[in-house]
Amino acid sequence: MKNRKYKIGTILNNDGDAYQNHKGAIVPPLYQNSLFAFENWDAIDEAFSDPSSSFIYSRLHNPTCRMVEEKIAALAGAEDAKLTASGMGAISAAILHFVNHGDHIVTIKGIYGPANNFINGFLKEKCNIESTYVDGTDIENIKEAVKENTKLIYLESPTSLTYELQDLRAVADLAKSKGIKTVIDNTYATPLFQKPIEMGIDMEVHSVSKYFCGHSDVVAGVMIGSKKDLSEILTKEHALLGAKMAPFEAWLILRSLRTMKIRMNAHNDQAMKMSTWLYDHPKVNKIHFPGHHSFPQSALAKKQMSGFGSLLSFEIDTDDINKIKAFVNSLTLFHLGVSWGGHESLVYAPVISYSKELPPEKFAEMNIVPGLIRISVGLEDIDDLKADLEKAFLCI
Ligand SMILES: Cc1ncc(COP(=O)(O)O)c(C=O)c1O
Repeated sequence: MKNRKYKIGTILNNDGDAYQNHKGAIVPPLYQNSLFAFENWDAIDEAFSDPSSSFIYSRLHNPTCRMVEEKIAALAGAEDAKLTASGMGAISAAILHFVNHGDHIVTIKGIYGPANNFINGFLKEKCNIESTYVDGTDIENIKEAVKENTKLIYLESPTSLTYELQDLRAVADLAKSKGIKTVIDNTYATPLFQKPIEMGIDMEVHSVSKYFCGHSDVVAGVMIGSKKDLSEILTKEHALLGAKMAPFEAWLILRSLRTMKIRMNAHNDQAMKMSTWLYDHPKVNKIHFPGHHSFPQSALAKKQMSGFGSLLSFEIDTDDINKIKAFVNSLTLFHLGVSWGGHESLVYAPVISYSKELPPEKFAEMNIVPGLIRISVGLEDIDDLKADLEKAFLCI
């Protein structure tokens, strides 16, 4: 799969579809089956000697899922990919694969909340796995955090609220020199806009629920990496914990992949326009968007990313919770909800969940102000979206 000859649009819309193998059906069929039958003893015996490339039982492999996995691996320039039932299914399986009881993980402040709870709560309590959280914008912090028993550096670049980056080539070089594995949550950028495997990172994990799916109708995840790592995970963390992908959901993802390139380019274009408009807005104190020239790591963003997607945050000019509430409630085109990466525009105020989990001073320590607003800029007309926000700005 590595070094495929086709470019992104062709991989998404043609490569590997082989309609000739499906009675000419231009949309590949849905293999909605749990098991596969074999002609005889020798055939099943042969399948069992190589479960990582055989169809035996759909908890391991399924042809509809496999088709999607091969396309995603090709997009990332990787040897293989494995779909999972959710992004957290991919994150937990990948992390568990690379660490054992008593090991140490270096990770980044600001990673996705449940990934943080998994590392700093679940693994610590149940598996005696320690972790160190650093400001990953400086490679020296990562270097200093590495210990004798560090087995994994877990990254998320950009993060999904204020979008801090890690220098992926520098982290990969550091990790390789010390025999440490690297995993990155690459959900924000997708393999279309950032290729960590080509920069030396061992494994990508994604919430496929976001841009890969793009229609807000599937929860799914994927691990992308080497054949060796993924074939080991297949029969261990994947098969034993059982976060397998449903064939119908894989079929919906295949449908979504057809438009992924044009959706991503449109999201990127919309978010670029929106960031410029918000930056100039008198009621906005600050914007957070790696594609904007005001972003502190803009040079690194340009070096390791080729686009930026739909997600950006901005600080409105008030700390008054009632005004922040009124701002959010008065939006009509931006729907209030978690997640992102679908066709629709979304808004979320992190103060809603953070204030339930953390005291206000912790909030401040993380440089998160009450007026921080996150939006996912959907595929609606940008002028309508700006008008919706302009109406909300009247509330503050
Ligand atoms: C950055 C990031 N990573 C991982 C996940 C987890 O994905 P899922 O919800 O598909 O389990 C999410 C979900 O919001 C996310 O935002």
